[in-house]
Amino acid sequence: MREHEVLVGFRPSGRETHVLPGTKLIEAAGAAGLLIDAPCGGEGLCGKCRVVVASDAAEPTAAERQWLTEAELEAGWRLACQTTVEGPAEVDIPASSLPAAGQKIMIRSRGAARSTSDAPPVRKRYVELSAPLRGDDMPDALRLERALGVEPLKMDVAVLRELSARLREADFRGTAVLAGDRLLDFEIGDTTADAFAVSVDVGTTTLAAELTDL
Ligand code: FES
Repeated sequence: MREHEVLVGFRPSGRETHVLPGTKLIEAAGAAGLLIDAPCGGEGLCGKCRVVVASDAAEPTAAERQWLTEAELEAGWRLACQTTVEGPAEVDIPASSLPAAGQKIMIRSRGAARSTSDAPPVRKRYVELSAPLRGDDMPDALRLERALGVEPLKMDVAVLRELSARLREADFRGTAVLAGDRLLDFEIGDTTADAFAVSVDVGTTTLAAELTDL
């Protein structure tokens, strides 16, 4: 506990944390390891992050007055993303304000094997380059370009900066990860069998992702 921090306890979990006055209740809950449902990202736009503060609290914000009735405010109901910690506090988090009450992470760990006819935009190619001899001043990027037969071979500065060290670490044998004519990475050894893709479907109520072994 640092100087000036105050104790905030959460019920019914019994978790506690110390935070500085002025900390939003939703952040204090996070510090205590509790996730409060915040569909609007804590902007005060959804009214979902309701909690009951059993102690003095800051003046209600305009958003709290919009989402909570006068009777609810008097009973201690507040929006966790709006209310700040003013001093030692006890806070009740109803089950309806916890994501676990209405949301689930569903995992299907074993998918069906199926083939795809589409050529993935990212591909891997194993190459063996001849190491430069004394007096051979060909740039490494050009050496790799010729070995791959992709001309011109494009790459970001960050990849180019790493390339020489990576080639030598790999003893000039490795796997080029390519997106079209752009080098994304150069991996040590033959990693062509390690190729995966992730497809994500962002729906209104469900987020689905699939990992595919290419
Ligand atoms: S998270 Fe939406 S109002 Fe608090």
